[in-house]
Amino acid sequence: MNLMSRVTRLGCALAFCCLALVLWGVPGTRALNNGLAMTPTMGWLHWERFMCNVNCQEEPDSCISEKLFLQMADLMVSDGWKDAGYQYLCIDDCWMAPQRDSKGRLQADSNRFPNGIRHLADFVHSKGLKLGIYADAGNKTCAGYPGSYGYYDIDAKTFADWGVDLLKFDGCYCDSVKHLADGYKQMSLALNRTGRSIVYSCEWPLYAWPFVKPNYTEIRQYCNHWRNSADIYDSWQSVRSILDWTSSNQESVVPAAGPGGWNDPDMLVIGNFGLSQDQQVTQMALWAIMAAPLFMSNDLRHISPEAKGLLQNKDVIAINQDPLGKQGYRLRKNDNFEVWERPLSNLAWAVAVVNLQDIGGPRSYTIPIASLGKGLACNPACLITQLLPVKTKLGFYEWTKSLKTQINPTGTVLLRLESASKIASKSSL
Ligand code: GLA
Repeated sequence: MNLMSRVTRLGCALAFCCLALVLWGVPGTRALNNGLAMTPTMGWLHWERFMCNVNCQEEPDSCISEKLFLQMADLMVSDGWKDAGYQYLCIDDCWMAPQRDSKGRLQADSNRFPNGIRHLADFVHSKGLKLGIYADAGNKTCAGYPGSYGYYDIDAKTFADWGVDLLKFDGCYCDSVKHLADGYKQMSLALNRTGRSIVYSCEWPLYAWPFVKPNYTEIRQYCNHWRNSADIYDSWQSVRSILDWTSSNQESVVPAAGPGGWNDPDMLVIGNFGLSQDQQVTQMALWAIMAAPLFMSNDLRHISPEAKGLLQNKDVIAINQDPLGKQGYRLRKNDNFEVWERPLSNLAWAVAVVNLQDIGGPRSYTIPIASLGKGLACNPACLITQLLPVKTKLGFYEWTKSLKTQINPTGTVLLRLESASKIASKSSL
């Protein structure tokens, strides 16, 4: 039976499928109304790789300084990062001078940022990039620099005057859950009042979780993305614990994500020291499934061709940036395998199969096709392409068939499933 006749025979099933997906695609809760982050933000953020290194005497190439950001800005353009979608160059903690200026404004450390932040923003903008900065809702930043408590409007205005395009707002040194919530809300409103488009990156739920279950409907109305889980480290254990946290809490967090507001599982550590190639594949694949903001924290001056290829993989980035804006979830966990899936636009689906066993060699896993995409992804058939670890066209699969995969220890196979009916209707146009 050819593809068209299969599609015709199963018209009813498809009509149901379309209806279900349209209903499912109805946006949930309202997002922060600043028109930003309609897809997850992409960029570079200094923290995981460069931390709070302020020793420019001993380590001039890796201290938090204007020089570091100028170099990264150049490379983001010359090495294809900007073209791949990584647009926001973001400063984390430790950029500030230890005191505010005489007018109560934050100021950059004058030794490390001799030309100030506005100059850096101008340079970054001249390259077609955007600049991110960091501050904290409490009395101090996590590293002990001046906090924004009591200064929300002044700080928002200062950042807008400098031409900043993103604020990562941390939650250290808040005295209470109320202070935390008020701080995040007030800064959101203060940024809005500046009239400048500034992506607002929060850590509100991370700091709230030990005390209350965060209200994601409310958080989404104030933030463009929000951290839920502990800081990422350059290790497999850390990546794994973030995946475990996310899947254990998926009923709470997945419905909160959508255009304008995203769960943030923290930076990509691909290109550093702690993850094997298979583990880097797992991070990239799962951050795409989770519709995560993609902030690399690595050294773009020294990065392997493999890591660069993975981070710039267009097919995987297309899944992360899919305009439907639905976050994926863990579908199944058995025998140390996990299957995750994410609905995409045009009735397509992304599926990731992770082999969590960190002993032995590659293991095979067989997926019944009918179990994917709520039973709809391949009804009556779909075209499957393996995107990671290596792009391979696997061909058409009917609903009744199974797909056998082979996965390295701690690695992932990432698949894209295109609805056969969509392909048929496109080719008959
Ligand atoms: C917290 C945040 C990190 C980083 C540091 C900076 O730990 O979660 O992402 O910003 O503070 O001090």
